[in-house]
Amino acid sequence: MDFSRFIAYELELSRADAPLVRLLQDASGATGCGVGSTVWDTGLVLAKYLDHQTSLGNLDLSGKTVLELGSGTGIVGIALGRLHPQCQVILTDKKELIPLLNRNIELNSAMSNTRAQCLDWTLPTALDVVPDLIVVSDGIWDKDLHQPLAETLARLAGSETRVLLAYETRKFDEEAEFIAKWSQTFRFRDIKPSEQDPVMQSEDIFMFEGSRKIKAAD
Ligand SMILES: C[S@@+](CC[C@H](N)C(=O)[O-])C[C@H]1O[C@@H](n2cnc3c(N)ncnc32)[C@H](O)[C@@H]1O
Repeated sequence: MDFSRFIAYELELSRADAPLVRLLQDASGATGCGVGSTVWDTGLVLAKYLDHQTSLGNLDLSGKTVLELGSGTGIVGIALGRLHPQCQVILTDKKELIPLLNRNIELNSAMSNTRAQCLDWTLPTALDVVPDLIVVSDGIWDKDLHQPLAETLARLAGSETRVLLAYETRKFDEEAEFIAKWSQTFRFRDIKPSEQDPVMQSEDIFMFEGSRKIKAAD
């Protein structure tokens, strides 16, 4: 992939020995990678929420596996990989985003804990691990993808998997429909502004933390 039309982007983290996430993004859309080639505001808010919770000592991912769905530039998963060198992070997206994800992983040196792989929600892809945490930033902006994303979450989340889903509200009714459908198989709570990064938050960006409902014993 020709990265000459991409521009550099940096996100500051609070970890002293890993203070920045460095990324390339294509703000013009000219490279044909689709919506995932730019950093979305929700990605920033979710990455900074995870940074904030890490700095408070509330997030222990040692020895855990994190899966990001619809990674785009990789802003959230790469931040997590830098904040938690003892966890394994799998960034995923459609195949046209994989060269950008690999490039962005390379730009953040010493990230042997982070890798990228193709995972298309419309295809029944299996994973060889059950993730401890799944993160999804701005994955429900397109109604046509609601069902494939819900099915992917239901397929890949185990009974102990925690899911963080964040999105910017654009079409309230459609988003509410997704959340209602999701609530049939997952229980979740909303993450309050007081838990988020004090600066990087928005009244238009919602975050939920969920886990699979345990099937009742017969
Ligand atoms: C709105 S962008 C958000 C990107 C990134 N998570 C962020 O917050 O900056 C949505 C992402 O979902 C990905 N996506 C769209 N359809 C997909 C599919 N069928 N399977 C996997 N990922 C998909 C896009 O390529 C894009 O990276």
